Amino acid sequence: MRRCWSCRRCCSLRCAARFVAVVVVVVVVLVLKPDLAPDAVNKALQRCTDRESKKLLQNLCHNYTRGLIAGPLCSPLCSKMTIIYEQCLGHGNKIALKARWTDRWIVLKASKESTMAYYVPWNRNDHTIIMTTNEVARWVYDFVVSEVNPYPIDMAFLHDRLLSNLVTKGGNYSRAAVESLWSVLQQGEFLKLFLLAGNKHIPDVYGWCGHMYAMEYTPIGDAFRRLKLRHTMSWKSRVKIGLSFLEMVRSFKETQYGELSLCDVQETNFGLRTSDFTVQAIDIDLALLPQTRSNFVSQAEKCTKDSECDFFDCVAYCNYKTNNCTSQMKSSNFQNFCHDIFKTKYFVNQGLLEEAPHNVAHELGEILTKCASVPPNSTVKFPETYYSDLYNRLHSLLSKESQ
Ligand SMILES: Nc1ncnc2c1ncn2[C@@H]1O[C@H](COP(=O)(O)OP(=O)(O)O)[C@@H](O)[C@H]1O
Ligand SMILES: [Mg+2]
Repeated sequence: MRRCWSCRRCCSLRCAARFVAVVVVVVVVLVLKPDLAPDAVNKALQRCTDRESKKLLQNLCHNYTRGLIAGPLCSPLCSKMTIIYEQCLGHGNKIALKARWTDRWIVLKASKESTMAYYVPWNRNDHTIIMTTNEVARWVYDFVVSEVNPYPIDMAFLHDRLLSNLVTKGGNYSRAAVESLWSVLQQGEFLKLFLLAGNKHIPDVYGWCGHMYAMEYTPIGDAFRRLKLRHTMSWKSRVKIGLSFLEMVRSFKETQYGELSLCDVQETNFGLRTSDFTVQAIDIDLALLPQTRSNFVSQAEKCTKDSECDFFDCVAYCNYKTNNCTSQMKSSNFQNFCHDIFKTKYFVNQGLLEEAPHNVAHELGEILTKCASVPPNSTVKFPETYYSDLYNRLHSLLSKESQ
């Protein structure tokens, strides 16, 4: 009897162990091999699979062959096949796919909400509408102007970089061409990539097909990857990356459309070109030009403290007399870089400029502590040159270290 009992217990223990092993194997397979996992599991884990990504591109090309969408990238992607899908990079707010375009890597992106069903300033059901080139130019111009207001936009620039890419039919634009252009223009990232093209801290944008656009591939730098316990990059390399972040601060402060505020500062939103240690902002959904920033701030409810006037990492001052958020910014790109990139954000990782050599560790630590701080409220103002002095000190210290 006793033997039997222990035998049964043994068996149930063995069964349980086998069951646990099977579960572990299944979980490991599903985690490591997304293509074997059911779509529901991948969706829950916010993962994209090759199967799903290829299907998405097939649908896009299907719409192209049916004449529903157009754009300068449709031919290389769908008929010449010079753009080849490689791997899925992300399935968060946007779909991001890595692909090879002849001799270079690119990223194909589309906001998940973006479909061809975007609001269009014409009647979709009215098929008699003729979209004259002048009419379309006016729609595009008015839309872009409203986004960069009060800064001017050059009509010739819009024509050369956007409209000249559209296919015309007897002096008019094809409907597919206009609707596709409209759908990428509505995606904040595309518009900013396009407007800021030429800035070395912004990836190049190569074109679009339907609602999908292509940009330069600049992978996330290992040096500022989250959850890294120890630096594997040399101090000199980290210094060069730090200098590139400072250069980014300077160039975003004075774009031709005013200051570009990065409101989502986290390591995964920056790419690193390792050939020359240039840092690029690769996710600029939440990089705001003054017009959009003041729209967000003015939408805020009544405030009683500054922290109620925030939009992610962008914090504005609260006016305690009127209890309204002001458009004056309390945070800046420089402060946010000091706080979230140069220094430790979480205890589990190390900031880019931490663990410095002994000869500079003390001075650097002092600068970083100061530049990561913000005035406690709008009644306490740091001297006007407080941050610019710290910027200059950090820049000269890093410049010396990079020699
Ligand atoms: N230009 C790029 N070069 C290399 N990788 C990129 C690029 N843009 C995005 N990625 C990768 O794709 C991921 C998702 O893209 P992202 O624009 O950050 O989308 P989301 O808005 O969903 O966060 C990023 O975390 C990054 O790993
Ligand atoms: Mg992102």
